[in-house]
Amino acid sequence: MSELVRFSIAMPADLLMQFDNLVARRGLAKNRSEVIRDLVRESLVSEEWDDPDAEIVGTLSLVYSHHAHDLQSKLDHIQHSHHDRIISSMHVHLDAHNCLEVIVMRGQSKLIRTLAESILGVKGVKHGNLTATTTGKYL
Ligand code: NI
Repeated sequence: MSELVRFSIAMPADLLMQFDNLVARRGLAKNRSEVIRDLVRESLVSEEWDDPDAEIVGTLSLVYSHHAHDLQSKLDHIQHSHHDRIISSMHVHLDAHNCLEVIVMRGQSKLIRTLAESILGVKGVKHGNLTATTTGKYL
C-alpha cells in the first residue's frame, strides 16, 4: 500500500450521521477512513467497469424455475459455448421449485455483459444480477 495522506472532509451533519451508521453496520474492523476508501474504490471500479475493453471478473446470479422446459439445457449450452470465459459456477436447489445459479466469468467487459445478458434472457429466468470487479487490465 502506498503512503497514507490525511485530508479533511466537510459534510452536512445529517449526512455524517448516516455515514456513521453505515460505518457501524460494516462492523468493528472498519472505521470512517476505511469506509471512505472502500466507497472511493467502489466508484473507481464501477467507472472502470464501464470501459468496454476493461477486463472484469463478473459474478452473475440468477434464479429460475426447476420445472421450466428446456431451461437447464439452454443454460448449459450457453455456458459450454463460453467455457473459456466461465471460471466457475454453483447451483443451489433453493426449494422444491426454484434453483439459484451463481456463475463467475472473466473477460473483456463488453463480452461478459453480452454473455450475462444472453443468460438472463433465457425464457424462464425469473431474476438475475451481474456484479463485477476489475482486474486493472485492458484487453
Ligand atoms: Ni436446482
